[in-house]
Amino acid sequence: MNKDVLVVIGTGGMGEAIARRSGPGRTVLLADFNEELLARLSESLGADGYHVETHPVDVSSVTSMGSLTERAASLGPIAAAVHTAGLSPAQAAVDAILRVDLLGVANFLDAFAAVIASGGSGVVIASMAGTLSAGRLPPELEAALAATPTDELLSLPFLQQLPDPGAAYGIAKRANQLRVQAASMQWGGRGARVNSISPGVIATPMGQQELAGDSGAQMRAMVDVSATGRLGTPGDIAAAVAFLTGPEATFISGADLLVDGGAVAGTRHAAAGSV
Ligand SMILES: NC(=O)c1ccc[n+]([C@@H]2O[C@H](COP(=O)([O-])OP(=O)(O)OC[C@H]3O[C@@H](n4cnc5c(N)ncnc54)[C@H](O)[C@@H]3O)[C@@H](O)[C@H]2O)c1
Repeated sequence: MNKDVLVVIGTGGMGEAIARRSGPGRTVLLADFNEELLARLSESLGADGYHVETHPVDVSSVTSMGSLTERAASLGPIAAAVHTAGLSPAQAAVDAILRVDLLGVANFLDAFAAVIASGGSGVVIASMAGTLSAGRLPPELEAALAATPTDELLSLPFLQQLPDPGAAYGIAKRANQLRVQAASMQWGGRGARVNSISPGVIATPMGQQELAGDSGAQMRAMVDVSATGRLGTPGDIAAAVAFLTGPEATFISGADLLVDGGAVAGTRHAAAGSV
């Protein structure tokens, strides 16, 4: 009998926590473009009793994403597909961030809309950087990010003149939230749901690299003024994914869940809470 399939794209800090939390009893298909990382995580999960398959993917390629969905569908009904692959401003230049964080998510939403099981659910990991961008982008720009066909996305004029990787990341992550909302209509047509999660600062390899980089001081300041006053753990994000893909969330689709320990609230309202 075919078991339900959980697809986890991006097998870094969050991907591993999500696979461990939501993987038991399912076939877990891990996908990443770092084949060494894929093999290492597959071995570690296999040793812990998980049923794991792997498939290399470059999320920025339609062909590669198509090959992944074909493999996923061949394994059984796809109950959940979680997109965590990403590059941060400390890791990459503007072009690469737009290809992976913007185009990659658009490719995921298109491709998995065609294979997700009825009753299944998708989650895209966006970022609080997208939430912070929301108030700053003009409405016509947001509309273009939400609705431009995937193969024309990277040609949008305003993406040709971004000043730095941080600006590209904020726009890409806002686009993730908007495109998930728009895609939920198509996913709904198959009886499936799709949502995004916008994490705050999470202690994964990427989070640690950002904290050590140029924007580290600003990120630490956001954590300091947040209601929880702490970094997030990969498990905090895995818990949110389990909720959104589980039976308690069957009325939630097209939504963004901010899981930031109160960092955005603190940034906007710290003065109101001070005594
Ligand atoms: N860590 C944080 O503080 C934080 C905060 C907000 C949002 N996020 C977002 O959460 C997601 C997960 O981040 P993480 O902290 O687990 O990072 P991570 O660096 O631990 O993992 C990201 C994974 O994506 C993979 N990847 C990169 N480009 C790829 C491509 N083209 N195709 C396939 N895989 C690719 C990498 O190999 C890596 O394994 C990212 O989208 C990130 O932008 C992270």
